[in-house]
Formats: sequence, structure tokens, C-alpha cells
Amino acid sequence: MDNNDIIRVENVSKGYPNHPVLQNLSLTLKKGECFTLLGPSGCGKTVLLRLLAGFESADAGKIYIGDTLVNDPEARIAVPPENRGLGVVFQDYAVWPHMTVFENVAYPLKIADRPKDEINERVMRMIDIVGMKGLDKRLPSELSGGQQQRVALARALVADPALLLLDEPLSNLDANLREEMRFEIKELQKKLGVTVLYVTHDQEIGLAISDRVAIMNAEGAIQQIGTPWEIFEKPVNPFVFNFMGIANFIDVRRDGGAFLVGNGNQPMPWETPAGDAVEWVAAFRPSDVKIARNGGGLRGVIRRANFLGAMMDYLIEIDGTHLRTSLETHHAIAQDLMFKAGDECSLSFLSLHWFEKEALKGVLEE
Ligand SMILES: Nc1ncnc2c1ncn2[C@@H]1O[C@H](COP(=O)(O)OP(=O)(O)OP(=O)(O)O)[C@@H](O)[C@H]1O
Ligand SMILES: [Mg+2]
Repeated sequence: MDNNDIIRVENVSKGYPNHPVLQNLSLTLKKGECFTLLGPSGCGKTVLLRLLAGFESADAGKIYIGDTLVNDPEARIAVPPENRGLGVVFQDYAVWPHMTVFENVAYPLKIADRPKDEINERVMRMIDIVGMKGLDKRLPSELSGGQQQRVALARALVADPALLLLDEPLSNLDANLREEMRFEIKELQKKLGVTVLYVTHDQEIGLAISDRVAIMNAEGAIQQIGTPWEIFEKPVNPFVFNFMGIANFIDVRRDGGAFLVGNGNQPMPWETPAGDAVEWVAAFRPSDVKIARNGGGLRGVIRRANFLGAMMDYLIEIDGTHLRTSLETHHAIAQDLMFKAGDECSLSFLSLHWFEKEALKGVLEE
């Protein structure tokens, strides 16, 4: 194995009676990277982390951490969690309420039977690193949600793990704190040089803090692995595209050499796809549509206009197919783009992705 790899998962399967979760999953993490695994609720993210942490054994396949084979059911190898050298913060793995901040953070070192002086020094240093200086004698009930998360992080990091597994560690925080904490996690990762595997269904986190992202579908199969930019700009299929934010899909059909929108006769004003399929969808995000009263591009009709404060949200029909777009209200006012239902408009695109319509089946039924 490449000694730059810190995790290698090879063809791992895991299921419960009548319920396969992971099938033949493979994944490699490089030392020092911040890697996010993104997928919808119930797809098997926590199950994968439990396998990596050693709380459960795979049904088949191999898991390496560093150079060590830690799980191989065929060879009856299952290294226990405490011997895997990992820090873990689980989704619902709260701090212990009857222990002070100090005692919570000290716990992994106590279990490892470290001398008292060393424990004292390392715990106080870690409490300082996560920004909790002076709060070491408090009980969790005397802390805010964000402070409790910091304690959980400090506890996961105090034994200097080479690898930190984070399972939705910010899900109990309000939106502002969540945003702040995710950058703090990134800072910590850089400061300590630890490899992070972050598991979440929040795509913004994936984009904000990761070196690489993996997208998993509801069946627990990895669809794409890449940098945040690659995942956002070069999605390999409509599932990935749809998962990374609000997506629009309009119907386009091949008619001889032309690609016509909906059931009408307007050609698509953009590069057209290669491939023989007759039925296509053109996919784009609301921010990729340019709307005007008159101009080039497609002609459409506003079917619904919603004022959302800072934004105007429009539902637009083009020859039987629909799309949604939004623009800033002040921009709409300044540019005479305050439409009402029934108004005509013209549309062009800044960016488009083409998928065969066949590939869309199952993606939008949510
Ligand atoms: N011990 C278990 N016994 C039976 N089924 C389980 C068990 N643990 C998990 N599952 C099932 O495995 C599937 C994957 O669960 P998992 O907890 O990994 O989802 P997740 O991707 O972490 O979702 P979320 O984003 O909601 O946390 C789910 O359908 C769940 O019901
Ligand atoms: Mg989970």
C-alpha cells in the first residue's frame, strides 16, 4: 500500500438482517487531508465510521489504517477501537455530564494509564487549543452547545491521533455557530496536522472545509470523489448535481441535428450534448440562468413570482417544461426585472450540464 495512505477501505460490505447497507465499498484517504463523505440520511455514513473506528466488524472486505490491517473478517482480524489510534466524535456521542471539562478531556489518557503530570499538561494544552481556557472546572451543564462540542473535539484529539473521525459533530448547533465551528475545525486540522474524515449530509460543509469530497447515494454507493470544485462543476451524474444544491432540469429532445426545448420548437442556446439519445435534460442551478425582458435565448412565461425579501424567485415555463431562478431584488428593481405572473421573458445560461433523461430516473423522487 502507498505509505501516503492513512485509510484504505477495500471492497467492504456491511448489512443487517434483510438490509444491505454498504456493498463493495472502496475508499482511500491520504495523510493530512480533510476528506468529507457526503450522502443523504440513512445511506450508511455512520455505519462506515463505526467500521473504521472498530465498533463493528465488516461482513466482507478489508480495512487498513496506516500500515495495519485492522479488519478482515475472512482472516478473523478485528483490531479493537482503543488500538486503532483514532480520535472520534460521533453524532450523538455527547460529553459525559457528571465529569468536568478537565475530566472529560483527560479520559482517553487515563484509560491509557499515562502519568498524572503528563495528563495535566496535555489536557490543559488541548483545552487551550480549542479555545476553552479557564473553563476546565465547569460541568457540561454549565456550557453552551458549541462549548460542549469543543470539549468533545478536545477529548478526541488529546491522545494525538493521526486520524480524526467526525460524524456530524455540528448537527446540534444553531446555524451561526455551525458556520463558525466548521472553520475552527479546519484551523485545528491544519494546526495539528491530523487527517480528518468528516461525515455529513450538509453539502456546504463539504465545500467549505474539504480537500476532497466523496458523494454517496441512498444505497450507500460512492458516486464521485473529487475536489469540491470538481464535484460542483463536473458532476458525473444527475444525483451528484442534484445533491450539491438546488437543481433545475429542463427537458430537451433531439430532432434531427437540433435540440429543442420542452414540446416546442426553440433550440437550446448552448453547446449541445454528444451522444445518440433522443431525450435529454439540461441541468443548471438558479444562479446559472440569466433572465431578461427581451433579448436572445429562449422565450418563456413567468408562471409564479415570489418576493422573498432579498431575492425574487420565479417559476418559468418554456414550452411545457419548467425551471426556477432567483435574482436579487434590488438588482431586479434596477434592471426592470420585477416580473409578475403571465409576463414574458427571455433566458440564457451561464453554465449547463447535460444528462440523458434515462439517467434521471429515481433521482428526483424524494
Ligand atoms: N444496528 C443496526 N441494525 C439494523 N440496521 C441498522 C443498524 N445501524 C444502522 N442501520 C441501518 O443502516 C442504514 C444506514 O444507517 P446510518 O446510521 O449509517 O445512516 P447515516 O448515513 O449515518 O444517516 P444520517 O445522515 O441520518 O446520520 C439505515 O437504514 C439504518 O437504519
Ligand atoms: Mg449518521
